[in-house]
Amino acid sequence: ITKVIMDCDPGHDDAIALLLASRADNIQILGVTTVQGNSEIKYTARNARRVLDYAGVTDVEVYMGCPKPMMKEHYRLTGVAIHGEDGLGGPYIPDPITPVKEKHAVNFIIDTLRASDEKITLVPTGPLTNIATAFIMAPDIKEKVERIIIMGGVVYTDGNVNSSNEFNLFLDPEAAKIVFNSGCDLYVNTLDVTMKATFEKEDVERLRAQEDKVSVIVAELMDFFGNSHEELFNFFTIPLHDPVCVAMLIDDSLVEYEHVWADISTKDELTAGEIVADIWHLTDKAPNCHISRKIDREKFVNMICDHMKKPYKS
Ligand code: BDR
Ligand code: CA
Repeated sequence: ITKVIMDCDPGHDDAIALLLASRADNIQILGVTTVQGNSEIKYTARNARRVLDYAGVTDVEVYMGCPKPMMKEHYRLTGVAIHGEDGLGGPYIPDPITPVKEKHAVNFIIDTLRASDEKITLVPTGPLTNIATAFIMAPDIKEKVERIIIMGGVVYTDGNVNSSNEFNLFLDPEAAKIVFNSGCDLYVNTLDVTMKATFEKEDVERLRAQEDKVSVIVAELMDFFGNSHEELFNFFTIPLHDPVCVAMLIDDSLVEYEHVWADISTKDELTAGEIVADIWHLTDKAPNCHISRKIDREKFVNMICDHMKKPYKS
């Protein structure tokens, strides 16, 4: 069993990642921490809680984290264009019944790692603000980190904020730099792979046809997500970026990675947040992260469909 803390900014694909983790036999969610990103912090925490309650996952707690990036002041909240005003547009999902916890997400991360006898896997699928802040406040916790499975960045293909930047790392470049230099074992699921982790229209219909409550709401979330991609980028696609981080924990043959040295640009305003990776192994710098290269889309689609119809076991 892999023990995880899910750190997210739901967000359609974050929400699907949470549901996938909750249905995975080999994953135990120790808690869900939220960050600003796809929407404001008050919405992302509420959305996480809303989705978990809807899917019967009431025993997993949600903690609200950082409302702003570490240093970046000005950015355009492009998440709203894709995810809607409150970060989770589309189907009606009732207000949560379970309250969001009082404790700050960063304190939850620190306390949970410190108290654990076993190492814990961190799964950040939004800007890296909470994790970086936890590492600044409590550097000792890095020893308790098994791996960090990140959704962020792009190396070989186009960015989704501009030609070279991906949304999560772009929103908090300094936090990304702290995490990339943390010495923890990093698995980075970049747009190179997550843009290929798509549901096509027929896959969505397959999911909807399963007819259970969770499969149907996920299909409806996908409808909204695909349509907003069509409006913003002029092509219909449903890239399930964040669920890739969970899927690779369920089946380690799903994504291929390359072990390289990489760092984050922070001082140049044109590129801040960009991953610079030694893909040709031309420096003598020791590899510090595994960058995603390939995904088996069919296996991924099957996995999502199979897991969504599973009942939740606490
Ligand atoms: C990332 O940005 C967000 O909109 C998604 O939730 C995902 O984490 C993709 O760039
Ligand atoms: Ca996200």
